[in-house]
Amino acid sequence: MLFAGSLLISCRQVIAVEETNTDLIIELKVDSILALMTLDEKIGQMSQVRHFDLEEKEFASRLIGSVIHTEGPLPGENASDWQAKFTALQKQALSTRLGIPLLFAVDAVHGQNTYEGATIFPHNIGLGASGNARLVEEAAAITAIETQATGINWVFSPCVAIPYNDKWGRVYEAFSESTDLTNELAKASVRGHQGNLSDQSTVLATAKHFIGDGATDNGIEGGETSLGVDEIVDRLLPPYRAAVEAGVGSIMASFNTMSGQAMHAHRALITDTLKIGMGFDGIVVSDWKGYSKFGEADVVKAGIDICMAVDGDLDDFQTGLKGEVESGNVAQARIDDAVRRILRQKFRLGLFENPFPDANLITKIGSQKHRDVARQGVRESLVLLKNENNALPLDKEISKIVVVGEFADNAGLQSGGWTINWQGTTENYSGATTILEGIKEIYQGDIIYDKNGTGDHTDADAVIVVVGESPYAEFFGDIGHEASVQSHNLSEAHKNYIDAYANTGKLITILISGRPMVVTEQIGHSDAFVAAWLPGSEGDGIAEVLFGDYDFKGKLPHSWPKSISDYNNKYGPNFWDESITPLFPFGYGLQYKQG
Ligand code: BGC
Repeated sequence: MLFAGSLLISCRQVIAVEETNTDLIIELKVDSILALMTLDEKIGQMSQVRHFDLEEKEFASRLIGSVIHTEGPLPGENASDWQAKFTALQKQALSTRLGIPLLFAVDAVHGQNTYEGATIFPHNIGLGASGNARLVEEAAAITAIETQATGINWVFSPCVAIPYNDKWGRVYEAFSESTDLTNELAKASVRGHQGNLSDQSTVLATAKHFIGDGATDNGIEGGETSLGVDEIVDRLLPPYRAAVEAGVGSIMASFNTMSGQAMHAHRALITDTLKIGMGFDGIVVSDWKGYSKFGEADVVKAGIDICMAVDGDLDDFQTGLKGEVESGNVAQARIDDAVRRILRQKFRLGLFENPFPDANLITKIGSQKHRDVARQGVRESLVLLKNENNALPLDKEISKIVVVGEFADNAGLQSGGWTINWQGTTENYSGATTILEGIKEIYQGDIIYDKNGTGDHTDADAVIVVVGESPYAEFFGDIGHEASVQSHNLSEAHKNYIDAYANTGKLITILISGRPMVVTEQIGHSDAFVAAWLPGSEGDGIAEVLFGDYDFKGKLPHSWPKSISDYNNKYGPNFWDESITPLFPFGYGLQYKQG
């Protein structure tokens, strides 16, 4: 035993020494490349553009360091074409004097959601409801594989915001209002995405948006976050500490201001707190056009290492920053720090050894194995808020079920924003199953689909009404934003679907939403009520729980308002106002099995 124990200790020591050696070797390599670099080459590394912003040759001549794929023209028709496109750009980068490979980034926030046919997981709010860190890790590992299969090696995920106000249009991108739960799931997500980072099936992860994105006054995207230091330290910073401890490779700055100061230019938080205080040695990346929006040189001086210089920002960024360095306004040491961080992550990712995508990964996109994990995620994210009159579980032997509403048979509507398109889609997309399809798979009796909620089928043995919020992302989801049509309540049409079948004693309502909504009346009219969040491509997971093949597991990741005034007061700077009793507290969720 003694011998086995000492052997174990010595093995651990060997591993530790190897890790230290790898780190040391990487630092030596970074230093030697840095010593060779001109200012233009350094600023090139700090530049990020879209894959269609430049002619291919310009990726070499402009010395570009990284590429983003987001809304806009696709890199190709299928994954092989995507890989071919990114391979061509990579060859340009490798043809430059120092041959430093490119990073390719994407907003893969619930699976590789920009690629039709990929496995699309429930949005983070649903994974928060599952409370299952193992599942979050597996989902992230699958996302990494499918992302690499499309030729991309960096994801702008996970969002580790703590949403203070459910008017914010990005509540669903975050796991929970609970800092503790977010810490745990943030770590799991980073572990899953990055795995052993130098493997070709893993990607660099990004914790975002640093910091205060979900805590703006009135939930306005990019608004003012007026919190005291204690709240920032106690509630908002811990998920970043957790992500840094898990080795996250990058962190994205946020659009909001913090006590009047643009976060992108907040040196005390970015450099002093995050980089020095927490020991974060990865890349801080700006958000969209962060350089021109938030004070140009001030952004770099505050500690931003890569600028998303898209939409016409590239010239100003490259020439502007060069001038600022030459005039002495931006220290050469700051530029060196930025480039050192970028090169370090490129080495850790194994990009110098393996700069090109792996064609063998393509067959894994949307595989059954991956979809099974996503379907598990759907099942575990469902939260049962009410169950009376034995409405659930449904008996497979009953003879007739009516399914109501357009959300019941539309994969786009059930998936939310950041699905196929930036703002999501209202159409079906390939590879996905709808909620109705899931019911058809499991139930052999008569199914009537009353898409428009006529209320004509009250003779059915059970009624399943599916209602919810139409897809939205970012500003378009803020309740109260001029570009937004979102509200705290359901639309009149959706309220009518429920009313048409209220008082039948067999009404099961499924809510598809990216946040808690004010549905007190509709819960009252329903016999059973399920918060299903935004399940993604595996809509059939819902039927497996409704028919009792699996029990409910999900618990509310947010407390749930009973009225609009709760919504207004509970959140915002008076968060956790103890004078307000929510309709359901954080952590609430019923199960079939009691106790
Ligand atoms: C969002 C980020 C996203 C970026 C790139 C921004 O508008 O705030 O979350 O990563 O766009 O698409």
